[in-house]
Amino acid sequence: MDLTINGSSHTVDLPDDMPLLWALRDGLNITSVKYGCGIAQCGACTVHIDGLAVRSCQVALADVWGEITTIEGLGTPDVLHAVQEAWIQHQVPQCGYCQSGQIMQAADLLARNPEPTDEDIDAAMSGNLCRCGTYPRIRAAVHAAASVMREA
Ligand code: FES
Ligand code: FES
Repeated sequence: MDLTINGSSHTVDLPDDMPLLWALRDGLNITSVKYGCGIAQCGACTVHIDGLAVRSCQVALADVWGEITTIEGLGTPDVLHAVQEAWIQHQVPQCGYCQSGQIMQAADLLARNPEPTDEDIDAAMSGNLCRCGTYPRIRAAVHAAASVMREA
């Protein structure tokens, strides 16, 4: 099976029904994509397919419909995505385990809604759990990234 990940083509010899999460982690060693629950309840495994945030634990390889982006491909090699910059500026991560998924979800939100309210942010991010309780910083960083993206 051929996959396009972060702009590069990869051929994988893995079962069609393998969740994308495990293909990325075990097949391609992209371990930024985290396993939290395996049942679409935590968001740690969030990646983009054709720009849409998806739970990679719930997408079988055979059902991948487009180009996959993980956090490594969110920005460019030289320039981080505004969400990544805001995460650094606001020192969002604590243990970090959930944060790749949080950032991918936030980037999806801002691609669709350039000026989200607190309620919009809470609604969009509610499926991404953080055991460290970084939610206030996540919200602040999303607002900061939104502001930068609107000015750009
Ligand atoms: S591991 Fe996919 S949502 Fe939790
Ligand atoms: S930063 Fe630790 S789980 Fe979110």
